[in-house]
Amino acid sequence: MESQGFEGTEAGGQPADVSDAVPTMDDASEGAPEQAPAAIDPRVDDPSKRGGAAIPEPTPLDQHGPARIIAMVNQKGGVGKTTSTVSLGAALASYGRRVLLVDFDPQGAVSVALGINPNELDLTIYNALTQAGCHVGDVVMSTDVIDLDLLPANIDLSAAEVQLVSEVGREHALGRVLAPIKDEYDIILIDCQPSLGLLTLNALTAASGVIIPMGTEYFALRGVALLKDTIDKVTSRLNPDLEIIGVLPTMYDARTLHAREVLSTVQQAFGDLVFQTVIHRTVKFQDAAVAGEPITDFAPGSSGAEAYRQLAREVLAR
Ligand SMILES: Nc1ncnc2c1ncn2[C@@H]1O[C@H](COP(=O)(O)OP(=O)(O)OP(=O)(O)O)[C@@H](O)[C@H]1O
Ligand SMILES: [Mg+2]
Repeated sequence: MESQGFEGTEAGGQPADVSDAVPTMDDASEGAPEQAPAAIDPRVDDPSKRGGAAIPEPTPLDQHGPARIIAMVNQKGGVGKTTSTVSLGAALASYGRRVLLVDFDPQGAVSVALGINPNELDLTIYNALTQAGCHVGDVVMSTDVIDLDLLPANIDLSAAEVQLVSEVGREHALGRVLAPIKDEYDIILIDCQPSLGLLTLNALTAASGVIIPMGTEYFALRGVALLKDTIDKVTSRLNPDLEIIGVLPTMYDARTLHAREVLSTVQQAFGDLVFQTVIHRTVKFQDAAVAGEPITDFAPGSSGAEAYRQLAREVLAR
């Protein structure tokens, strides 16, 4: 079945010319199987066009909150966690959702991607985590994007991780910080650092869902067993409500046989957990980050922006 809301559907079943394929995410080949059987030659089959169930348009909200809290997690570095947090957050806001982005990486990458220099801030999530007198509402900042707020971080957050280690209920610190503002938002997205340490455990304990961005490159699946194991442990010991919302393939380059093989493997390994939305590799994401804007504002008509709007619809439907 074709996904909704896209133009320019390619002729169904037509072998893609891999030499000049333009990275778009705009179509689902007619009759494409749910999962590519091994017999299909990946040179002519692009698994990003797998398709699936129709994705409904989000219903407008007449009231807000309490928020669904989603952690963006993968301990592998550079797989698109921060880009996906910012882009998905802005796309959800464009559907009238009140969104809070939690920068939970001492690099402060979400803050930077939104054009904010976190090193100049007096208050960051560090203060909310470690100082009893600090109210999280005083740390939250509005951004240039309507309905998109930010809980910023900077290098101080790495000190919070050290301080928390010796505390009682150390895995619940972020949950405690977010509790007073949960009712003000529809969605809270937590951008995690590339590690499965205490900060990420806090994110998984505060969240009800996990999105796993996964690069479609060599070794994409390396470490996923450990991640799955960590999520299972958090579910059984700390947070029974936690579930994986989906696996998001990122940085996909349809022109390479290799990327097609990796995506096909990811789809076979995770089945329906893999989002229909596949984020293609394009320099627009770096350009948007340099400009300090989400892609949905920087290049709203680009295929990358449309991909994250489709992802927003998928997340709201799951
Ligand atoms: N779809 C994409 N196409 C091309 N470049 C991308 C794409 N998504 C992200 N990037 C770029 O790749 C780099 C890494 O992305 P990002 O920072 O989102 O990954 P990350 O998983 O958050 O990394 P880290 O683990 O270091 O926090 C950035 O320079 C970003 O602009
Ligand atoms: Mg990051």
